[in-house]
This record gives sequence, structure tokens and C-alpha cells, in this order.
Amino acid sequence: MSELIAAEHAGRVIDGLRTIVGAPNLFAGADIEDRYRVDVMQKHHARPLAVVRPADTTQVVEIIKIAARAAVPVTPLGGRTGVVGGGVCRDGGIVLSLERMNRVLEVDDSSMTMTVEAGVPLQQAQEVAEAHGFILPLDLGARGSATIGGNIATNAGGVRVLRWGMTRDMVLGLEAVLANGAVVSSLSKSLKDNAGYHWKDLLIGSEGTLGVVTRAVLRLRPLPASTQTALLALGGFESVPALLRRLEGRFAGQLSSFELMWQDFYDYVTAAQLNTRRPPLPPGSPLYALVETLGSDPVRDLELFQEGLHEAGEAGLIEDAVIAQTARERGNLWAVRDDLTEPFKPLFPLAAFDVSLALKDMPAFVRDSRAAVLALYPSSTILYYGHAGDGNLHVAVALDRSGPDAETKVETAVYGCIRQYGGSISAEHGVGTAKRTYIGYTRSKTELALMRSIKQALDPDNIMNPGKVLPDRD
Ligand code: MLT
Ligand code: ZN
Repeated sequence: MSELIAAEHAGRVIDGLRTIVGAPNLFAGADIEDRYRVDVMQKHHARPLAVVRPADTTQVVEIIKIAARAAVPVTPLGGRTGVVGGGVCRDGGIVLSLERMNRVLEVDDSSMTMTVEAGVPLQQAQEVAEAHGFILPLDLGARGSATIGGNIATNAGGVRVLRWGMTRDMVLGLEAVLANGAVVSSLSKSLKDNAGYHWKDLLIGSEGTLGVVTRAVLRLRPLPASTQTALLALGGFESVPALLRRLEGRFAGQLSSFELMWQDFYDYVTAAQLNTRRPPLPPGSPLYALVETLGSDPVRDLELFQEGLHEAGEAGLIEDAVIAQTARERGNLWAVRDDLTEPFKPLFPLAAFDVSLALKDMPAFVRDSRAAVLALYPSSTILYYGHAGDGNLHVAVALDRSGPDAETKVETAVYGCIRQYGGSISAEHGVGTAKRTYIGYTRSKTELALMRSIKQALDPDNIMNPGKVLPDRD
């Protein structure tokens, strides 16, 4: 296509999009803000043709039809909290931001469900649920800006998966727009529905590559009446499996979080937060666990919590513990695990990992991956933490700035260890562009071929968020 024809073509696409959403909701050229050009990790950049902000599903359909006719790719965008580049479009592509589709449509008290548009921020959905006496159990550090649509597109996990599962486990019904402009909708409110293939589960976690999530019915639970939170210092990983099993058993269904922080992480983060808060437990222990139960009776639950932790201490599984007495103290305990934006700033550029593996393999993985990174860059800062109760570890490695290939070398080393232990390169963040070259470390050729045939069936012209999840053809 000559430059002139290409410009005319682009101009027609932009005009068509403007007609659909109106001038205030269409940005092109120099009007496109930086937040649509680069991801939150400052790693993935793009020059979009246009950014569109539809008001409803009908407008999404019209946008997809224009994009399909013009063969321009579309990248759906939620709250911009993804860390794998999944929301960054290809140069010349359309960014379809769901930010205006931000209505909670219904809370159905008797079905214990909530129906929302995709652009509702997670925290807003949590607060509306709470006002109706329910909990929407999905929870993660980025709750303030992450949207339900983004959570669904990435099958987000977070800090309560141990008890209530991933986003997938909370989505009862879904509406989405496919690459051909069809609206698939099953806004079911039932837990059970075995009528054929579950297309909803294909869309969940597909990172915008199979369609645009526009609405969802979410499962709610009665709001717990009590929260118990403790930070525990542990003598070593040997006690972790027994401690987790004991607490899950003793707290009988109430244990909602079991987060682990290795010493490097705890010492680093508490030191970085010293100007705002004192470390809840002294630094220097090999491991720290943040545990939380959500229950129904504040007095009885606290007694049970204290008893359970005391018995675990007697059994030699805990070295030291602090139990939050107030909501403020609880916030301070969680801040060590959750409030990472400022503490992590000096570590940039950062390689951030989100892997999963069997609990029993975690100490060997930590040992081997640390050794592999240090063999490459002996003075690296490497921090291990994560949702150990879910088999999910995060690793943050401050990258050596001396060479351009430090990130690739560190990734190859860490993912190499994950492959050795039969784990996954992505526990909860997804694949995006950042991990797609490593997906073969976790998925077999047969699995990848199956994924390609699903993609081909639903999006034969590769309009929907191309370049994400699957590697380019070999
Ligand atoms: C978390 O658990 O805090 C988030 O998944 C983000 C991360 O640490 O990588
Ligand atoms: Zn996480």
C-alpha cells in the first residue's frame, strides 16, 4: 500500500470510529495520551492508530466490524495494571478502552450475584457488594484501578485464591463480542450449567485474543463478620507444608490467605518503608508468612485463630508472630506484602516473574534460580515472595544495566528452572507479549497447536489483540 493510500485508509477508519463513539471518545495522532502508548512496567510501547472509548456493547460491535473490514487489529484495554504487555496494541492498531462501560448493572440479593460492565474497577465492585452485605472475594494489590473486564481477560488471581479460587471461579455468566462482531451472551446466575462447551471459560484468561469481554455476572458470598490477620516468622521452608496443612485444617474453611515472603524480600521492603512504618516483626528470619482468616463470629474466630497459631508455635512451626488487633494494624501487616510501588522503584529496570509450581519444589526452585541469576550477575538484588498457598511465587530481579540482554538472560535462567520443576511460567499475570517466547517451557507442542486452532476458529483474520499469548509462527 502506498503511503498516500495507507493514510487515506487510516483516515477512513478513524472517521468511522468517530461516528460510532463521538469525537470526545476518539483520540488519534498527537491527541493520544501516553498512558495508551506504554504499559505500567514502562517496557512495552506502541503507536496506536486510534484510541476508542465505547459506551456500550452495541458500540463495541460496530468498532470490531470496522476493524475487521479494514484489517486493523484491536487491543481491548482495562485498568492498565497488567504487567506482561497484554494491553499494549500493535503499531497502527486500535486501543479499545472499556473505561466508560463502568456501570454496576445489578446486585441480585437472592441469587447472590452481581452483574457488571467490563470497565468497572475491582474496588468499586467490591464496595458495592459490601454495601449489599456481600463479599466479592477477588482481591489484589491493583484493586483501585484494575477492572473486572481486565481481571476476566487475564483470569486474575490475587490474595484469596486459596479459599475462593481465581477469577474464573467467580464468573457465572459472560457477554463478549467476537472477532466477527457477534455478541455471545450467557448472563447465567446458576452455579451449574453443563449445556455443551463452556465458551465462557475460553474467553476467561484469553487476554483479549478471542474477543472483547463486555459484561459479566459475578458470584458473591455473604460478607464475613470477622477478619483475623497475623504475620509469622518461620525458621525455614521445612515448616511451610506442615503449617499450611495444619492451619487449613484447624481453621476449617476460613483460611483465605497464606502469603510467603523470603528474608531478602522482607528485609528489603521493611527497610524501604522505614520512613512510613516500623517493621511489624524484626527482619532477619529466613521466611515470613502473612495469614488471614475470614469468619462469622469475631470472638470465637479470634480465639480459634490464637489457639491455632499457639499450637503451631508449640509444634515448632512458628518462631515469632504478631496478630493484628485493629484494622490499622491489619493494614500495616498487609502493607509489607502489598505496598510495593515505592519500595520497588529503586530496583527498576526490573524483571518480574509470576510462576507456579508444587509447594514441595519451592525451596529447590528458589535455591536454583537464585544461583542461576547470581552466576550471571553476582551482585543482583533478587526478591522472592508470593501466594505460596496457591503454589504461586513472584520473583523480582533488579536488572544489571551493563548490557542490553540482561533481561533475556535472567528470564532464560529463571524460566529454565521452572521448566526443570514442571511449573508454569505464568501463575496469574498471563502471557501477553512479555512471556510468549517462553510459553513452550510450560505448554507442549500439542497444547500450543490446540490453542492455535482455537484462535484460528474464533479469529481467522487475527484481528483480536494479535501478538499476545502465542509466539509468532515457527
Ligand atoms: C502481587 O501479588 O503483588 C501481584 O501479583 C503483583 C506482583 O507482585 O507481581
Ligand atoms: Zn500476585
